[in-house]
Amino acid sequence: MTQPPVHTLSVDLPQGGYPIWIGTGILGQLGPRLGELASATSAVVIADAQVAELFASQVEESLRQWVPCVHRLVFPPGEESKSVRQAERLWQQLLDLGTDRRAVVVALGGGVTGDLAGFVAATFARGIRLVQVPTTLLAQVDSSVGGKVGINLPGAKNIVGAFWQPLAVLIDTAVLDSLPANQYRAGLAEVVKYGVILDADFFAYVEQNTQALGQRRPEVLQTIIARSCQLKAQVVAQDERETSGLRAVLNYGHTFAHALESAGQYSRWLHGEAVSLGMNCAALLARRLGRVDQAFCLRQGRLLEELELPVRLPPGLDHQRLLELMHHDKKAQAGRLRFVLPRRLGQVELVEGVPSQEVLAALAEAEQFPPQA
Ligand SMILES: NC(=O)c1ccc[n+]([C@@H]2O[C@H](COP(=O)([O-])OP(=O)(O)OC[C@H]3O[C@@H](n4cnc5c(N)ncnc54)[C@H](O)[C@@H]3O)[C@@H](O)[C@H]2O)c1
Ligand SMILES: [Zn+2]
Repeated sequence: MTQPPVHTLSVDLPQGGYPIWIGTGILGQLGPRLGELASATSAVVIADAQVAELFASQVEESLRQWVPCVHRLVFPPGEESKSVRQAERLWQQLLDLGTDRRAVVVALGGGVTGDLAGFVAATFARGIRLVQVPTTLLAQVDSSVGGKVGINLPGAKNIVGAFWQPLAVLIDTAVLDSLPANQYRAGLAEVVKYGVILDADFFAYVEQNTQALGQRRPEVLQTIIARSCQLKAQVVAQDERETSGLRAVLNYGHTFAHALESAGQYSRWLHGEAVSLGMNCAALLARRLGRVDQAFCLRQGRLLEELELPVRLPPGLDHQRLLELMHHDKKAQAGRLRFVLPRRLGQVELVEGVPSQEVLAALAEAEQFPPQA
């Protein structure tokens, strides 16, 4: 039987890189591919209950071609599982299984699984190897690349964590077939983000393929996922631990998005939906500051709309409250507002000390689309 083709990217880091394998229908290649890369005594698949039901058997069967001993640990789906309680449960279960430092954790699932299982791998026995098998579009284009893993404390997202690079990442676009439409679209917001911050040609490619993206066509998915991973990997390679400020460009639209998510109790919008709204706010703010023109705001907004993502802020939001939330964002320095703002398609800059009244004015403008000239 011929195997579906695999596109391999490599993430280069000072301490050694790792491959990202991308293809359609390639879940079954996981075990044999890992076998060419490393040896291990056992593999522990960690997944939420929903994803375990869909894909764990296939992944485990493949892993058995690599290691004799394959286990499965399951936790309840949802952001609430990124908790100390679930991490403790998983540590204990790893201990009960007799997991040693030659074992490998396989994080099979969305960003919640990647972050939780990754954090457990980073900390158990002072760190065991991790393989990421992302199954949401968000995880495939964003959270599985870059090495950030972690859990939440009540009221503080991602506050406990580590940088823990995987041994490999395997991305199978076929798993996206079962992903709910809103989750799928939310992932596309991050794809648009990469185009705006780093690659105008990629932005144009997404514009030209909105229909194919709506149909989740494998070849287009492979292209956008590969390019997104490549762009994120390049940024991460230059600023692995977020020290130089370079990695901040990835936060385009996110200062607004985080405030919206928080104001919406993390239930009103999915992260990607908030990012879509946030990118529109950031574009309008940049226009107010004379950094981009109306055409930029229109082009970005139209693409988001074509992808069925929200761009217009609903009326009745408390803008003053949003502003306060932005002042308290982890990424604000000493309460000074900083934004990643576009200069042109494919280029953004970190802008410090943006006046509050400009932010409020941008929020007001964002209630309309197309924006007034
Ligand atoms: N580490 C990073 O760099 C980074 C970056 C961005 C986001 N994140 C984190 O990612 C998390 C969000 O990730 P997410 O959006 O993937 O959410 P998620 O992991 O909760 O997945 C969303 C839902 O989709 C289900 N699901 C997953 N794959 C499926 C599939 N193929 N078919 C059907 N259902 C499927 C899951 O069971 C879950 O219910 C947040 O906690 C965020 O903080 C981390
Ligand atoms: Zn994001």
